[in-house]
Amino acid sequence: MNNPLSAASRYRKELFLSLSSFIVISIIFYSLNSNPVIYIFTGSIWLVVLYFYIGKRRYSDLSDIKKTLRIIASREMELTSNIELDKGLGDIQAELNEMIKKINDDFIYLKKLEQTRREFLGNVSHELKTPIFAIGGYIETLLNGAISDPRVNMHFLQKAYDHTQNLSNLLNDLIDISLIESGQLKMSFRYFNLRNFLAELAEEFNPTISETPIQLVIQPVRKGLQIYGDKTRFRQVMINLLQNAVKYSTEGSIQIIVEENSDDCTIMVKDEGVGIQEDDLSRIFERFYRVDKARSRDVGGTGLGLAIVKHILEAHNSKIEVKSKYGEGSTFFFKLAK
Ligand SMILES: Nc1ncnc2c1ncn2[C@@H]1O[C@H](COP(=O)(O)OP(=O)(O)OP(=O)(O)O)[C@@H](O)[C@H]1O
Ligand SMILES: [Mg+2]
Repeated sequence: MNNPLSAASRYRKELFLSLSSFIVISIIFYSLNSNPVIYIFTGSIWLVVLYFYIGKRRYSDLSDIKKTLRIIASREMELTSNIELDKGLGDIQAELNEMIKKINDDFIYLKKLEQTRREFLGNVSHELKTPIFAIGGYIETLLNGAISDPRVNMHFLQKAYDHTQNLSNLLNDLIDISLIESGQLKMSFRYFNLRNFLAELAEEFNPTISETPIQLVIQPVRKGLQIYGDKTRFRQVMINLLQNAVKYSTEGSIQIIVEENSDDCTIMVKDEGVGIQEDDLSRIFERFYRVDKARSRDVGGTGLGLAIVKHILEAHNSKIEVKSKYGEGSTFFFKLAK
């Protein structure tokens, strides 16, 4: 780090300049054999002019520093252009510019954080509003007499119940996101058998698609393939990807494909659904981002699923990626250590 005090060398130079000019004047006067009163008078005037000049420069340096400090204090951080002080104050200039840069970065980060927080709160309240209003509406209708109408009472109760399920899913997702983002989610890494894991997953998932024209196909996986990860969280990743594949497909197959590499394996979930347009591809992993908001509302999504997937895989030192062709289908893939 620079030592700002080294700028004091500038003061030494000024002292040297005033003393040496004073000596030169003295020698000139001495050689001219002039009157000592005139000599003392002229010498004093010279010193006053010199110190006035030095003082003015010092004042301008200090007011530059003062101005800069005021800018920093008032947070007018748009004024990012580097401050420039006089040459001799180069060290202080460097320190101040470094300080401004750091404060500026913090300021931008805090602004972004504030914006994210505001968006997050807005999204959460919006997502909570929908099921709560719906539940309230169904219960009110039932209380107003529909409870004794056998044509609608069970239907309204079922609808209200479905919305409580949506609420509960949303809360679970929010809890997961906040635990993951605050670093409180403890992962438990172990080796487990991938083939058995996928077979169990398929068994669990098949009832979800049994009444749709969609089939789940698991491509052959080596019998003894062990992968390293948190099995429960990995299950959550796969369920999210499979649920999306079903939600955003009307027919065709969903394939789970495993490719073995030397140190890891690539796991792919491939569907033949609606696909995702280029512009949306980079945004679908953001919290609450949905491509087609109306359609997602129909199928009850809040746009948190892929954000959770992304976080869980990051905790596994991995990264979720996607390839998609609009209208033809999507493939989500990531690597896991083996
Ligand atoms: N397999 C897919 N095919 C087409 N679009 C997809 C697919 N997976 C995700 N998407 C798009 O990405 C968006 C974000 O997905 P994400 O899983 O985060 O949210 P969601 O499914 O809408 O809601 P949630 O998962 O929270 O219930 C979806 O709304 C959808 O538009
Ligand atoms: Mg989803």
